[in-house]
Amino acid sequence: MRDVGMTVVGVSRRQPAVPSPIDAPPPLGESAGAFHFYPVDLTDDTKTMDMVKRVSETHGPISLLIHAAGLNRNSLLLRSGRDTIEEVLNTNLTSPLLLTKHALRDGGLMKAKDPACVIFVGSTVGVYGNPGQVGYAASKGALDSICKSLAKEYSAKTGVRFNVIAPGLIEGPGMGASLRPEDQKQWADASCIRRLVTTDEVADGVLFLASNSGINGHTLVVDGGRQ
Ligand SMILES: NC(=O)c1ccc[n+]([C@@H]2O[C@H](COP(=O)([O-])OP(=O)(O)OC[C@H]3O[C@@H](n4cnc5c(N)ncnc54)[C@H](OP(=O)(O)O)[C@@H]3O)[C@@H](O)[C@H]2O)c1
Repeated sequence: MRDVGMTVVGVSRRQPAVPSPIDAPPPLGESAGAFHFYPVDLTDDTKTMDMVKRVSETHGPISLLIHAAGLNRNSLLLRSGRDTIEEVLNTNLTSPLLLTKHALRDGGLMKAKDPACVIFVGSTVGVYGNPGQVGYAASKGALDSICKSLAKEYSAKTGVRFNVIAPGLIEGPGMGASLRPEDQKQWADASCIRRLVTTDEVADGVLFLASNSGINGHTLVVDGGRQ
């Protein structure tokens, strides 16, 4: 996104080493192509709304919203407590809904010209299911119906599109790194390309969804094909 001159704002809970632009926002227009980090817990609705307002006031209207924050707490349903299930659903399901609401209402997304879209990072676990990940699968699978519904609610009026990118297991650091090598191999063997997908392949899928103005309410699976 930065390569095409977009200002990119990253959000997660951990405080960056450099001062946050929340403390010292640069004047509008000075930050094209730049990267800014805002430390926010996306399960905190008020702080998320404040962040969206600050981002659009500081950097201009949001034109592309990508929700990638995610959490998994692997355990069989019979061993899962309510707190664990709610923690996963709050992060993976409620937070993308509320972030989208704030971006549409307070972040200028409804007025955005290009690309004017929202992309949720789902997972093939939400498409095919996976034992030990019932809550995670529910949260990721629901993103598809959320996009289809949001497209019906807002696309005609605003031109904003809503899509999901659903990666298979991604090689390298991230959630997949916590899996045992034999489990990673099982994921690779289940793919027609007999390997895990790369972050570049997933990022290319995101760029494709962002740039193709005809795709709306769709889940794009990036897993090499499933055996
Ligand atoms: N890696 C894979 O194989 C894979 C496959 C399919 C889908 N995905 C999806 O891809 C996305 C990224 O996964 P990953 O592998 O990069 O996982 P990861 O390394 O665990 O990163 C998750 C990110 O989400 C942020 N986050 C979590 N809870 C948050 C909250 N409440 N508020 C703000 N930020 C929060 C984390 O930052 P903080 O902890 O600092 O907040 C972290 O930056 C997730 O949605 C995941 O479900 C991953």
